[in-house]
Amino acid sequence: TREHKLSGKKVVVTAGPTRERIDPVRFLTNFSSGKMGYAMAGAAAEMGAETILISGPVSLPVPSGVTRIQVESAEDMLKAVEAHFDTANYVVKTAAVADYRPKAIAEQKVKKQEGSSTIELERTVDILKQLGQQKKNQVLIGFAAETNNVTKYAKEKLSRKNADYIIANDVSEAQAGFESDTNRVTVFGKNDFEQAFDMMPKQQLARQLFEMITDKEESYDS
Ligand code: PMT
Repeated sequence: TREHKLSGKKVVVTAGPTRERIDPVRFLTNFSSGKMGYAMAGAAAEMGAETILISGPVSLPVPSGVTRIQVESAEDMLKAVEAHFDTANYVVKTAAVADYRPKAIAEQKVKKQEGSSTIELERTVDILKQLGQQKKNQVLIGFAAETNNVTKYAKEKLSRKNADYIIANDVSEAQAGFESDTNRVTVFGKNDFEQAFDMMPKQQLARQLFEMITDKEESYDS
């Protein structure tokens, strides 16, 4: 049935922010609440998938039927995703992963000093890009949070990261993107596929996104 379009499938969803430690009491992070990713995981489970939710630190309940794995840093998230990637049919990277982390984590709390201070940062692994290189039959879905040139940057991410879909949210828009209960997205896919969705609650949107993507993937298979 339509409700169980994902039965027999394994869906891996990442959600929330990552935390990149500076010292024992401080970290770098972002405003992701996890709401969009938890909604994606909830929708996948409702549609019959075996659903693994790999989540950065957020305070949200685990959706019914979902197995959650909690992680902290981008590196932890990478390891958790890798452990499930080979057996996954769909991988949805909703998490807002840090692009940089402090080059060293201080063992003791950093003391304040006179004048300014700098933290040297290094790049984290781009998980989506790495999965794009390893991909076999998995359908790889990324999100893109942009404040400008949404279409251009989303299309660039689609090809550069070898993803099957990029779901772009214009996070400069009120009630879309980080923290809100609603979102408004445009999905980009191969062969110049583009579909805009109306503003709606994240849970409803998650459902519509999986319906659209599973329909499209079925049309490729047949
Ligand atoms: O959690 P909410 O408050 O509900 O907010 C939802 C959201 C705005 C966080 C979500 O809808 C969203 O857009 N998530 C992706 C945010 C993001 O970090 O986009 P990006 O353009 O930096 O990254 C693009 C893609 O690459 C994403 O799928 C991201 O998971 C992935 N990535 C990025 C960096 C990195 N080191 N590894 C990655 O895998």
